[in-house]
Amino acid sequence: MPITISEVGRKYPGGIVALESVSLVIPDGQFVSLIGPSGCGKSTLLAMLAGLDAPTTGRVAVSGRVGMVFQEPALFPWRSVRDNVSFGLQMRGVGKRERESRADDALKMVHLSRFAGAYPHELSGGMRQRAAIARALVADPEVLLMDEPFGALDAQTRSLLQSELLSVWETTRKTVVFVTHGMDEALTLSDRIVLLSARPGRIIADIVIDAPHPRDPQTDPTLRAAYEMLRDLLTKEVESVARAEHDGDWEGVGKRTMEPEASVGADI
Ligand SMILES: Nc1ncnc2c1ncn2[C@@H]1O[C@H](COP(=O)(O)OP(=O)(O)OP(=O)(O)O)[C@@H](O)[C@H]1O
Ligand SMILES: [Mg+2]
Repeated sequence: MPITISEVGRKYPGGIVALESVSLVIPDGQFVSLIGPSGCGKSTLLAMLAGLDAPTTGRVAVSGRVGMVFQEPALFPWRSVRDNVSFGLQMRGVGKRERESRADDALKMVHLSRFAGAYPHELSGGMRQRAAIARALVADPEVLLMDEPFGALDAQTRSLLQSELLSVWETTRKTVVFVTHGMDEALTLSDRIVLLSARPGRIIADIVIDAPHPRDPQTDPTLRAAYEMLRDLLTKEVESVARAEHDGDWEGVGKRTMEPEASVGADI
């Protein structure tokens, strides 16, 4: 298995427990979305998978190369798109000709070939995020880690990049771990959705989404049922946290959080 997370906990200095006893095995080629309330440890878990952080208890094992995409593309403004994408290869001592040709292949996958010579300030937000995805793909990683990669984009651009990501995934079948606040996004993209509780993050649901692509979470009954189940769990979670935190004020808070959401596609 490319990713095995066993009984992982993470306590930060100062005493905040971000994650508690998280176990997850992700098979080769699976597209998994991680969702959960803000601060529940999603980015912490992804950082561990990327080798940027270590658990305080338990164990994380990732086999193969890893590519990472963050919410902000963080490109070097003084390097062209191609040179941004090939930067990691340059650091590893790959020769100019080879790294440029690999950067161009990665840019082709995200439909950014025409802008290989452009600089980041000449790109739209969506194009910059495509460049960040190309940068993660250039080393042909087995595992792609994405931390709210489309969170800062407008709805149309987000939906376009979602379809592009799906087509990259369908052709390469990389293992993807995708963090999002968008239920719609998770339902549109993933084979599997893992829901974490409020901090300390523990797994409270792990569901398989078996529906063909392209998907429409508004109309597909499988997706609607999954949505409703996840929403109910989240509502219960928010309710219990609010109860613990607000004590006497609980009733008003509870009423608001228990109201049914207007439509599929709510963000959390
Ligand atoms: N370097 C750090 N030092 C101390 N506490 C930290 C550190 N990084 C994260 N935390 C805390 O750990 C908890 C989990 O943080 P994390 O960034 O993993 O959450 P998240 O689920 O990604 O949240 P969001 O959805 O808002 O991005 C938070 O309460 C955060 O304040
Ligand atoms: Mg985060």
